[in-house]
Order: sequence, then C-alpha cells, then structure tokens
Amino acid sequence: MSTPVVLISEKEIQVRVAELAAQISEDYADAGELVMVGVLKGAFVFLADLSRKLTIPRTIEFIAVSSYGSGSELTGAVRLVMDVRGSVEDKHVLIVEDIVDTGHTLKYLSGILESHRPASIRTAALVRKAERAEVEVSVDYLGFDIGNEWVVGYGLDNAEQNRTLPYIGVVEPGH
Ligand code: IMP
Ligand code: MG
Repeated sequence: MSTPVVLISEKEIQVRVAELAAQISEDYADAGELVMVGVLKGAFVFLADLSRKLTIPRTIEFIAVSSYGSGSELTGAVRLVMDVRGSVEDKHVLIVEDIVDTGHTLKYLSGILESHRPASIRTAALVRKAERAEVEVSVDYLGFDIGNEWVVGYGLDNAEQNRTLPYIGVVEPGH
C-alpha cells in the first residue's frame, strides 16, 4: 500500500486544534463542566488532542454509530451501536466528530443526544466536505474545510488502514 499524500500537515493540525481548544475554553469558561462525546472510532485522535488542550473542567464519553453501506456507497442511513454510558442530562455536551461528509451522521447523533435532555449541545469536527452536504447541520467548531476526496489519518481510515497517521492525507485511487 502506498503512503498517503499529505493534505493537512501534522503541524497545521496541531496549530488549528490549539486554536479550537482556546475558543472552546473561552466559550465554556462559565459553564461548569463540559461533556465531550467522541464519535467512535474516527474521532479518538482529535478528541485526545482537543481535550488535553482545554483549560476548563471536562469529562469524556464515547458514542458509536455505524453507517449502512461502505466507503463511497454509504446510503446516509445511520444506526446507533453504542450510546453514552454516563448521564448527560442538564450538562453541556460537545459532540466531537472526525469528519462531516453528507452530514447524516452528525444530524442523527444530535437527535440521539438531544433525547437525553442536556443543558446544551454543540458540535466540533476536524474536517468537513462542504460540497457533499445533504442535510443541514451546524458545526460550531470546525478545523478545516476540504474538497470532495477520501481522506485518511488522524483517526480517519480507509478500510481500517491509516488511522494512526499524524497528518491528514489522500490515498491515491486504486490503493
Ligand atoms: P456523513 O456522510 O457526514 O454521515 O459521514 C459518515 C461517516 O463516513 C463519517 O463520520 C466518517 O466516519 C466517514 N467518512 C466520510 N468521509 C470520509 C473520509 O474522507 N475519510 C474517512 N472517513 C470518512
Ligand atoms: Mg465518523
């Protein structure tokens, strides 16, 4: 398998994640505690880096979904595989996603978490493919907008490969 071509470097990611963490810390300075809900598996790296750069009290939860279909054949239908363990009722929730593509996953997750009656819900995503949007979802804390290409690294995979690359890259077609 060939090495993915760098699209967003490790340094660029670290700088942007620090900026997002500073913004989130400022926005939630008076909120008490923030519950960060990472979306498995892809958000685990972003969540780890972002959460450790916050200067406010925070706790970590995970939620897991699965999309029907695979790769570019995703249908948009989403199924809950694992809900959050702890209660988020009356708490401030930040959903942390790796990437927003069509928007179906984030919209579905917002609905699930809304049903747990939190004090508030906002969303963070490292990457968004703006031109692929099929449903309207707001991303309150966005790392980068990219074009319509399959990206890997920093938690993102292609068939479970390349998740632990420190940068975001593009896999050449056919690899
Ligand atoms: P959605 O289309 O916004 O619902 O995104 C569905 C899911 O597909 C995302 O949460 C990612 O897990 C995955 N995904 C979408 N685009 C990419 C990509 O370029 N690389 C890796 N995973 C992706
Ligand atoms: Mg995901």
